[in-house]
Amino acid sequence: MTLLAIETSCDETSVAVVQAGCVRANVVSSQIALHAEYGGVVPELAARAHLQNLPPLARTALREAGISAAALDAVAATRGPGLPNALMVGLKAAQGLAFALRKPFIGIHHHEAHLYSPWIRGNPPVADFAAFEPNVSLIVSGGHTLLVHVEAELKHRVLGSTLDDAAGECFDKTGKLLGLPYPAGPDMDRLAEAGNPAAFAFPRPLLHEPNDDFSFSGLKTAVRYFLRDHPQVPQDPAQRRDLCASVQAAIVDVLVGKTLRAARRIGVRCVTASGGVTCNRALRRDLAAACARAGLTLRLAERALCTDNAAMIGILAERKLRAGHPATDYDADIEPGWPMA
Ligand code: KG4
Ligand code: ZN
Repeated sequence: MTLLAIETSCDETSVAVVQAGCVRANVVSSQIALHAEYGGVVPELAARAHLQNLPPLARTALREAGISAAALDAVAATRGPGLPNALMVGLKAAQGLAFALRKPFIGIHHHEAHLYSPWIRGNPPVADFAAFEPNVSLIVSGGHTLLVHVEAELKHRVLGSTLDDAAGECFDKTGKLLGLPYPAGPDMDRLAEAGNPAAFAFPRPLLHEPNDDFSFSGLKTAVRYFLRDHPQVPQDPAQRRDLCASVQAAIVDVLVGKTLRAARRIGVRCVTASGGVTCNRALRRDLAAACARAGLTLRLAERALCTDNAAMIGILAERKLRAGHPATDYDADIEPGWPMA
């Protein structure tokens, strides 16, 4: 089966061509530069950029894959959750293409697709479903923080999610307080590498609560008060690095602690992680160390597949169609607030 997939739920426009579990092309156009001057994603600008980017990206993806549109067996797109106007562009383009080709269309849940991105490996990237084992999956990005029990392929149960800010949002907002440009996560990571994570004590929200939920807005507020009381800290390069390392340690401790506790409680032998924040080096290191101590296998999404991409949408879409999952109507609407079933 050869399938074209489109992802436009937030600020990355992406088109992939997937064939028999192999990612033949996965082109991504990030809009970071477009939104940076506003300090965050501007939904209307995102939608317009998707509209401009999509046709050339689709042509590039098909050319890279060496496949003509007429040879496609199906078309997929992210149907939700995400920014309404942004989702609309990718969904309607995909439905239009599928309708014109008289091929099935399938709408995909963005977070469900994240669950399978850690299983996509290699060059060219291939979905290694033969190695699949039940797992607890951490999805951490600018828009979402979720802990999910993936009981079997295509079968999952949400354990917890963030009650307020997402982990990436916490990196971005605390970094902004330090004067770092949007999105601040990568800069926080870079500065934190040379800082002391124990220099300043910040709260680890909900770390010891008996649930799988997260909350990061209190941490952001703690950083704001800290900076009000210690205005000299960001002025000194060494203390600035210590501050980044200390904030990062608070976020990472919570993510790692709660993920490992859920995995142990449920009794899975595998932990997976994906989403933009999974690029964070401290998170990757600490998750690896904690999983090794607990005797758990860790599968982190490859860096290129951590952030939003159409490859994960295509891989899940193909898996679903192969499993007999019904196609989605050509005129099905977007689902901006689609809960994870
Ligand atoms: O998956 P993604 O591209 O999706 C969203 O747009 O939500 O994730 C972007 C998020 C941003 O919040 C960004 O600051 C964060 O991932 N991020 C990082 C790192 N790289 C990206 N956060 C911490 N450390 C990083 N190295
Ligand atoms: Zn995402």
